[in-house]
Amino acid sequence: GAAVKIARLPLARLTTIGVGGEAEVWTVETLADLKEATQAPYRVLGNGSNLLVSDAGVPERVIRLAGEFALWNPDLTGWVGAGALVPSLLQASARLGLSGLEGLHGVPAQVGGAVKMNAGTRFGEMADALEEVELFHDGGLHCYRPSELGFRYRHSELPEGSLVTRVKLKLTPSSEEAVRARIALVDAARKGQPKRKSAGCAFKNPPGDSAGRLIDVRGLKGTTVGKAMISLEHGNFLVNLGGATAAEMYALIRKVQAVLPLEVEWEIWG
Ligand code: FAD
Ligand code: EPU
Repeated sequence: GAAVKIARLPLARLTTIGVGGEAEVWTVETLADLKEATQAPYRVLGNGSNLLVSDAGVPERVIRLAGEFALWNPDLTGWVGAGALVPSLLQASARLGLSGLEGLHGVPAQVGGAVKMNAGTRFGEMADALEEVELFHDGGLHCYRPSELGFRYRHSELPEGSLVTRVKLKLTPSSEEAVRARIALVDAARKGQPKRKSAGCAFKNPPGDSAGRLIDVRGLKGTTVGKAMISLEHGNFLVNLGGATAAEMYALIRKVQAVLPLEVEWEIWG
């Protein structure tokens, strides 16, 4: 087959918050590509929607899934590539009247990133919609049941060094109207979130509370470091006003953590 595509790229261009220096990006389309790409230290990039990459970039190879790792059947049966976009699958599930992904409405993830982070909302999370997960590790493909992967709130325990390659979805037959009604419910719950460039919520919610609310009542909304700002709309969104650096984002995180014991939800690279 064709050789694996390699390019040095600024990760700011591949992340939703628009921050991060360069790395060697390997776009893999086949298992042979993946085996080659994983011969040296690597990281896996999904849709870059939960990532803060350092201004210096990362020294490891950055693997992006494409080709056979981004395929899915229009009827959502069988294997779904981890490089598929969750919003596209959700749209398809609504048309088919299949329920299970509605809680992920508004999450701009790839399937692999959504599995790794167990993305979701209080209306449902990724782990609930999985039947089977295929992982690449130790040079080969291995299948797991979700119960083996330690899913909790915004957390998974994938085996060391593993990469999600494909999943089988667990969806329940419903009706298009019912699925769309649930999506509308989730949409309403997201109304207060900013439209500016971000990586979603920066901090995990402490049990029984909201990090955004805590940041709000401390009067921290609007706090700015350079071009990084705590959103005026929602306290848990740190937004890029345009040209923000990772250093500015770290400084903003430290300002919050100086007054509140919150755990960072973002994945920090470099
Ligand atoms: P990336 O950000 O690219 O990567 C995140 C982590 O997953 C990294 O550690 C990466 O190495 C790993 N990863 C990616 N792909 C794979 C793979 N194939 N195999 C193994 N590891 C992999 N999150 C929520 O949970 N709920 C929300 O409501 C929500 N709302 C958001 C709204 C906005 C506007 C934005 C920008 C983000 C939001 N997020 C939300 C955060 C984000 O979308 C999720 O954390 C999502 O799961 C990240 O997926 P990704 O594909 O973008 O992964
Ligand atoms: N609130 C404030 N001020 C703020 C923000 C929130 O008072 O600045 C209050 C709200 O009024 C509400 C409560 O806090 O009474 C909870 O807020 P919200 O409904 O916005 O939910 P959240 O707990 O802040 C969580 C997830 C979001 C997800 C929403 C919608 C986390 C860290 N956040 O936010 O997920 O989209 O629920 O269901 O779990 C993400 O993980 O990246 C993310 C965006």
